[in-house]
Amino acid sequence: MADAKPTLPALLVEALHGVRSVGVITGAGVSAESGVPTYRGKGGLYEEDEGKIDALTGTTLLSDPDRTWRAVGDLARHATGARPNAAHLAIAEIEKKVERFVLLTQNVDGLHEAAGSRNVIDIHGSITRTRCMGCGADGELGREELEAIHAAPRCRHCGATLRPAAVLFGEFLPEEKVERMRCEFLDNPPALVLVVGTSALFPYIVEPVLAARRAQRLTVEVNPAPTVLSSVVAWFLQGGAAAIVPEIAREIR
Ligand code: APR
Repeated sequence: MADAKPTLPALLVEALHGVRSVGVITGAGVSAESGVPTYRGKGGLYEEDEGKIDALTGTTLLSDPDRTWRAVGDLARHATGARPNAAHLAIAEIEKKVERFVLLTQNVDGLHEAAGSRNVIDIHGSITRTRCMGCGADGELGREELEAIHAAPRCRHCGATLRPAAVLFGEFLPEEKVERMRCEFLDNPPALVLVVGTSALFPYIVEPVLAARRAQRLTVEVNPAPTVLSSVVAWFLQGGAAAIVPEIAREIR
């Protein structure tokens, strides 16, 4: 029998009606039901190989770029064939229903864009886009090329080593994306801030939720496991994104 649809609390349903501005914040958990492993927790990528975090640091990129690229290729392979799930699609639906929408995602799997989300702040960048560490040229790698990668690719203009246009551990976030996050979430928090599938380890993920709370906005978290945000948000909905987020989207009208 199909899983019974989760019933949202009546007070939350009432609060969702009439919401006209929404900010969504996502992490790897929103893609878990697309078959993309999370980083932490049971079955997480970092659980199976502790060296992966070290391989994905800015320091390793400079000292051993082949190792970093092999780890990036591994991330890509774990997302091979993944398709947007009901949560990605529901988030794209919400964007169409409200006057003001922004999505802050930590994910590099491209599934939000594939689901139709438009106003996306991909704060950790992308693993298919590249930048030359010599001449700065921007580029793109095909998914197949990325999944088969075993050594750092070279720039076809100058021959220098390419880097992924993604934020690695120990690196700064792109200033223009931090500025967009600040403007969309901190300066004037949306009426609803919805956090889905993140362990909420980074200040730029926690701060938008705290700002929404301080501004008496509606805050909701969807996660099967409690996080540091679960005691901060007005509503912590314990469960999977693919079941719960469509219910939230349905009540935003
Ligand atoms: N639905 C919703 N949430 C889920 C689901 C699901 N079906 N399955 C797991 N989760 C939750 C987990 O409980 C956990 O809180 O998703 C979260 C995944 O946490 P992480 O693996 O830490 O992923 P994330 O929060 O995105 O990590 C942030 O850290 O490693 C870096 O750059 C990497 O972007 C990543 C960042």
